[in-house]
Amino acid sequence: MRKAFLLAALFALSLVTSVAAEEIGASSAKFWSVPQVDALPYDAHSRLIRHGRDLITATYSHIGPDMPDPAQRFAGNNLACGNCHLDAGVKKFGLPIFGLAEDFPAYSARIGAQITLQERINSCMTRSMNGRPLPVSSAPMRAIVAYIQFLSSGVRKGEKLSGLGAGTMPELDRAADPARGHDIYQARCIGCHNVDGAGVQNSLPGHGAGYAFPPLWGSDSFNDGAGMARLITAANFIHSNMPDGVDYLHPRLSPEEAWDVAALMVSKPRPHRAGLEKDFPDLLQKPIDAPYGPYADGFSEEQHKYGPYGPIRAKLQEIEKQQGEVRNPNSAR
Ligand code: HEC
Ligand code: HEC
Repeated sequence: MRKAFLLAALFALSLVTSVAAEEIGASSAKFWSVPQVDALPYDAHSRLIRHGRDLITATYSHIGPDMPDPAQRFAGNNLACGNCHLDAGVKKFGLPIFGLAEDFPAYSARIGAQITLQERINSCMTRSMNGRPLPVSSAPMRAIVAYIQFLSSGVRKGEKLSGLGAGTMPELDRAADPARGHDIYQARCIGCHNVDGAGVQNSLPGHGAGYAFPPLWGSDSFNDGAGMARLITAANFIHSNMPDGVDYLHPRLSPEEAWDVAALMVSKPRPHRAGLEKDFPDLLQKPIDAPYGPYADGFSEEQHKYGPYGPIRAKLQEIEKQQGEVRNPNSAR
């Protein structure tokens, strides 16, 4: 009798161990096997790749607004590309720039035409970095492109990697709420991102020191034309990655909390980019959460900014059906 009990207990124990082993197996899926920059030799091309990585992780020190030489001031804020493209651009669902070099030229709904990788980078330069475009032949542009291409070595053209973007949580059937987001910010974000979303600067004195914890809004943040200024992108990024250190397999915020705190961030003031009304010439391809009009569907800017998105999607489908339009497979929506 006793022995049977003991055996059952042992059996239960072995179940526990095998579950644990499975979990370890699953969590190793959170990493990609990426080409190692540090292992490169010190030839000219490898130096370019290393410099490209530095430009991603410490953008402010190379092309930031505080550069002593005005000709080198390209970024308009002191963010780093790597503040959003996490782990120097190789973190799953941390907006990776891994394995995508072969995807370009790619169709851009924002412009309504094919764009090159350099043009895509400059889209982040002028929106996320609130700055001016890097000339295609400039040293920093060549370095960033060399780094992104290096990260793609070994990834076949057309290969679909899982882990790109920031994830796709279920949506709320109500509008996301900045007031609830405020309480979540006080409890879960303020310790790092500081009072009033201002961030905390790096401690190094001197020019172009950048941020230990980047600002989420205000004059030194991304502008209102940036991808991170859109609720769906922001909420998924926050859910998969914040508080910093979290990964998509072990989120710490509930989806609802992530939607509401993203709504707070989206509601706050930030630099304005002129000419946004010209984005997305085909309005049916405009991302549903673009916080600026015009829109094809007649819903308010408010509802596009905060949701709920179900009714807008239904309306857009109706319009597409009426027009007999075949949805562009590259549509951002
Ligand atoms: C404030 C956050 C933020 C910063 C800073 C930022 N980006 Fe981005 N970047 C994004 C978002 C969000 C997207 C995806 C946008 C979308 O949904 O289309 C993106 C997309 C990209 C892409 C295309 C990725 C793909 O999957 O096709 C590249 C390349 C890129 N960024 C490069 C850069 C570079 C280089 C810098 C620095 C000069 C930079 N980004 C700075 C947020 C940022
Ligand atoms: C433990 C500190 C910490 C906490 C807590 C934290 N963050 Fe972050 N956050 C960071 C760091 C550091 C980065 C930049 C990551 C990098 O450069 O690798 C970042 C980046 C971001 C970004 C993208 C960059 C930018 O400037 O917009 C957003 C958005 C963001 N955090 C939102 C939040 C929200 C919302 C919360 C609360 C739910 C939060 N974070 C909690 C440390 C933190």
